[in-house]
Amino acid sequence: MNALTRDLAKLVETAEQSQKTREELSVSDRKFREKLHLMPPVGWLNDPNGLCQFQGIYHAFFQYSPFDAEGGVKMWGHYTSTNMIDWEYQSTALYPDQPFDCHGVYSGSAFIEDGKMYLYYTGNVKLEDGEYDYIRTGREGNTVLVMTEDGKTFGRKKELMRNSDYPDDLTCHVRDPKVWKENDIYYMVQGARTNEDVGQVLVFESEDKINWKFRNRVESENPFGYMWECPDYFEIGTKKLLSTSVQGLEGGIWDDCNVYQSGYFEIEGDILGEYKLSEYHLWDYGFDYYAPQSFETEDGRRIHISWMGMPDCEEYTNPTIQTGWQHCFTFPREIFEKNGKICQRPIRELDEKKHLVSDVKGMLSSDGYSVYELEILNIAENHFKVILSNELILDYADGRFRMHFISQDKTSVSAGRSMRYVEVDEVKDLKILADRSSVEVFVNDGEYVFSTRYYPENHKLLAEAVEAQIRLSEIM
Ligand code: FRU
Repeated sequence: MNALTRDLAKLVETAEQSQKTREELSVSDRKFREKLHLMPPVGWLNDPNGLCQFQGIYHAFFQYSPFDAEGGVKMWGHYTSTNMIDWEYQSTALYPDQPFDCHGVYSGSAFIEDGKMYLYYTGNVKLEDGEYDYIRTGREGNTVLVMTEDGKTFGRKKELMRNSDYPDDLTCHVRDPKVWKENDIYYMVQGARTNEDVGQVLVFESEDKINWKFRNRVESENPFGYMWECPDYFEIGTKKLLSTSVQGLEGGIWDDCNVYQSGYFEIEGDILGEYKLSEYHLWDYGFDYYAPQSFETEDGRRIHISWMGMPDCEEYTNPTIQTGWQHCFTFPREIFEKNGKICQRPIRELDEKKHLVSDVKGMLSSDGYSVYELEILNIAENHFKVILSNELILDYADGRFRMHFISQDKTSVSAGRSMRYVEVDEVKDLKILADRSSVEVFVNDGEYVFSTRYYPENHKLLAEAVEAQIRLSEIM
């Protein structure tokens, strides 16, 4: 640890301690702290990084700016868990303490092999000695590797690639390495923005995890946004998926969506050679979802976790800023294929925490649970309506499943959120996972998912669905 790292570590610890003290003193300061969702101890969180199961333990790193709830220079905070629900905060794992990452330890992934965890990330540098636009000039996106054998102490950082190692028709925006192995070769995808402002994914390969060479690029037939961030590549059932978070989609349906999107293309063919991309499917249709990353558990499940937030969003705000922190992750989801469709469901570990409190037909009303799962099964003819906290509404109209808020005023509890929807002929079932300041809704066994932060002032819950079965479980 160098002297800068030591000083940074002390500052982070002081900030974390003062937040803890503040929350111990005030109930209102902790009322929106989540029970099931991973949050920063203090300050700001964005993307999940380095997700993995290592020697039986789950590790989740996160983009962390502890000194300001509205963001700042990024480092990697670190949590561990034995069940992906109860997370234990460790400390900051990677600080911006080298010339090649001094403006941020940006996003990246973990690769596990031979009892070692290899963390690949982007070292962000913004030059300050001239006039730069920070798109074509003035920025470095360095690919860096760090290794740990115990998941606690992190070794020397090694710079593997710089912008000059990437194809030369790209802007400075190249980042977010995700690594995997296939047939004894290591592969890495990175997100990129070309000089023509087209988003694409770069594929690199290596024989030793250290020396990488550019192999191919994946792009859509027609330009699709100007930047693709946080790429991921994996197979599920019969499908090969390329996931990426896209900036710059405008017009048509995109005008009713978030400022940036996270979704996937199904790949026909081979990303190393000839391929064809399907249409782009959104992972999530809610207000707060960006930069997801996946990993495989030791028992072979593909788990997906995302930032439950949105960058550069002017539409709404998060009241937790006033209490010293902002943002959380989505609850971990298992991805699976069902009848040719990619679906998501909350991880089964949640079942251990559920306690059934009502099982009724047609209508349910309750007041008093803040962390719960509500299931509505066998919905007939799209007849259902759910209202949480007198404010957040889930319903069906004009061929759309909708998530919307009664008040769109920025000072209201929903803090300015309006409406998100998906066009669907039939809604058959809903699963709603509510935490103290978030809701995730799984429609039709997770064929569509809607995630949002919300800030309830009461715990009223009303669900109506003619003839359907309605089940409420408290989550302990
Ligand atoms: C996505 C992202 C990544 C980057 C990180 C920086 O939200 O912009 O592309 O590595 O956040 O925090």
